[in-house]
Amino acid sequence: MFQKILCVGLNCFDIIQICNSYPIEDSEQRSIEYRMQRGGNASNSSTVLSLLGSTCEFMGTLSKKTFWEFIQKDFEKYCIDISGCKIYYESQFPVSTIIINSQNGSRTIVHSNKDLPELDYEHFKNIDLTNYSWIHFEGRNVSEVSKMMLSVNDYKNVSELPITVSVELEKRKESLCLAALADIVFVGKEFSKNYNWDGMKTTLIEMRKHVKPSSTVISLWDKQGAMASSPEGIFSAPAYPPATVVDTLGAGDTFIGGFIHSMSRGKDLNESLHLACKIAGFKVGTYGYDELK
Ligand code: ADP
Ligand code: FRU
Repeated sequence: MFQKILCVGLNCFDIIQICNSYPIEDSEQRSIEYRMQRGGNASNSSTVLSLLGSTCEFMGTLSKKTFWEFIQKDFEKYCIDISGCKIYYESQFPVSTIIINSQNGSRTIVHSNKDLPELDYEHFKNIDLTNYSWIHFEGRNVSEVSKMMLSVNDYKNVSELPITVSVELEKRKESLCLAALADIVFVGKEFSKNYNWDGMKTTLIEMRKHVKPSSTVISLWDKQGAMASSPEGIFSAPAYPPATVVDTLGAGDTFIGGFIHSMSRGKDLNESLHLACKIAGFKVGTYGYDELK
């Protein structure tokens, strides 16, 4: 049967300025280049999945008011199905203004969401779960996303078709409760820092208290690579730095896309961890995502 990977979360409009150096407050400089990109964690991971060859769908809220043409064409260009998205007509797209320092690839994000509502369970519940082999959730809008994850788990209990459920805990402290509802939990370093966990080992030890015994937890930590804890034990992969780091925007999203792609193709946890670090390492040496193809 034809089955897809579904990524549920934010889509926004990224305006990216690549600068010679990080600006000084109240100064003026010309950027080297600027570009506009479809952004948002789940949206970026779906781009990566699609570039790697997975069949992928994105679900979130979209607006027809601003940037619609750009966003819609871009989803189309990467063959990402958005037919299940909830469309608004009067709200504005969330926008991120991003400065990339070309000297070290750092990305500084200023994000704004004026009035586009988050995806709700009432909308999500209409999807046909038989279409999906994997559903990945961004850990946001916790009360609604937990209902979505619970409903997929209820379906898994009665269905013969397996669905892997993953969640990304990136920033928000309150998203910790979603970990108990996932088979695979990606934990970003900002999330760990919120809880004063000082590294990947501590993150894995602490996170095991919040997940199902059968689940896998993966801690991502930029130049240190990634570590995973599963019922089979602890695995780690180093970062694979490129010759020059130029653009770290979406490194974590790329890791997640690479990891899901690899596991979906039947590779094991250790291999997938290494592959995801290699793909994310390659990405930070290039601008955007297109060279992943
Ligand atoms: P986020 O984009 O969510 O802040 P990280 O910066 O922790 O995520 O990066 C996610 C993954 O990307 C890391 O686990 C690592 O594999 C890879 N990565 C990030 N930065 C670098 C880097 N400078 N060199 C090589 N790999 C990197
Ligand atoms: C990168 C990213 C950007 C977006 C921002 C939202 O991980 O998804 O594309 O602007 O984070 O927080």
